[in-house]
Amino acid sequence: MAYTVDGKVVIVTGGAGGIGSEACRLFAENGARVVVADIAAERAADLAAELRSGGAEAVHVGVNLADETSIKHLFETTMAEYGTLDIIDNNAALLSAEMAKRDGNIEHMATEDWDATFAVNTRGTMIACREALKIMAPKKSGVIINTASNLALQGNVIQAAYSASKAAVIQMTRSIATSHGKLGIRCNAVLPGLTGTPAALEHLPQELRETVEEETLTPYLGAPVDIAHLVIFLASEEARYISGQAFAADGGTSVHIPGFARLRRFFNG
Ligand SMILES: NC(=O)c1ccc[n+]([C@@H]2O[C@H](COP(=O)([O-])OP(=O)(O)OC[C@H]3O[C@@H](n4cnc5c(N)ncnc54)[C@H](O)[C@@H]3O)[C@@H](O)[C@H]2O)c1
Repeated sequence: MAYTVDGKVVIVTGGAGGIGSEACRLFAENGARVVVADIAAERAADLAAELRSGGAEAVHVGVNLADETSIKHLFETTMAEYGTLDIIDNNAALLSAEMAKRDGNIEHMATEDWDATFAVNTRGTMIACREALKIMAPKKSGVIINTASNLALQGNVIQAAYSASKAAVIQMTRSIATSHGKLGIRCNAVLPGLTGTPAALEHLPQELRETVEEETLTPYLGAPVDIAHLVIFLASEEARYISGQAFAADGGTSVHIPGFARLRRFFNG
């Protein structure tokens, strides 16, 4: 499968993570020049080396999305290295196991946990979009992919901060698509459902995993590469008429009737 991103310069934030690394690999396979940007600088360096050994152009940059100066350094390094930026895949998010345990409902929300979540997922993504737009607007072309989550679409008993931070990302995506569409810049959001990365599954109790699997319309949970294919399609020339949208890649988890799993058992046995 070929996507038209040949020669494009792409930044993938969280590029050393589960979904991000698959996106980096797909961009590299399709001829893009890849900036693997991650707070885990060593893992980012390893991936960039892997991409180069496969014949691609790739560099890594250590970046902390919670730190504005660090984000600006990412863009300065990209410009110094490649002289332009065509695509940004804003994929990084605060997903630590400790935060996943603490991010419950609003009654018990620690203000600092709320702020830490928004600092990376929403504020960090906003700053990255702004810095990308500063490069893309003058040349009247560019593509922004923001990563939200299907949890941004519905209420849940936990992850109130994470869900709200991702819902804000969806609205920011529409704002950018609207303000900068006529300047040749497209902006879309991808909304993964539970995806089989170690980070997502490692701390998930078996019962919760089975619950999500039952509520997923496909016979399987997604893999990181399933999300990466949506990202690279939206980034490619093939998606040139698509902007301002929020696409869930969640096996249909977010679209069905409430009680789907129980109803299915009732009607199908
Ligand atoms: N995997 C899922 O089930 C799932 C579901 C819904 C949405 N998502 C979203 O998909 C994206 C990728 O998730 P993943 O599952 O690949 O997670 P992951 O933990 O494997 O990857 C996230 C990457 O972001 C990096 N990162 C974390 N904080 C950072 C910071 N402050 N600055 C820079 N980099 C930072 C991490 O080092 C990591 O490499 C995230 O935005 C996540 O919210 C994932």
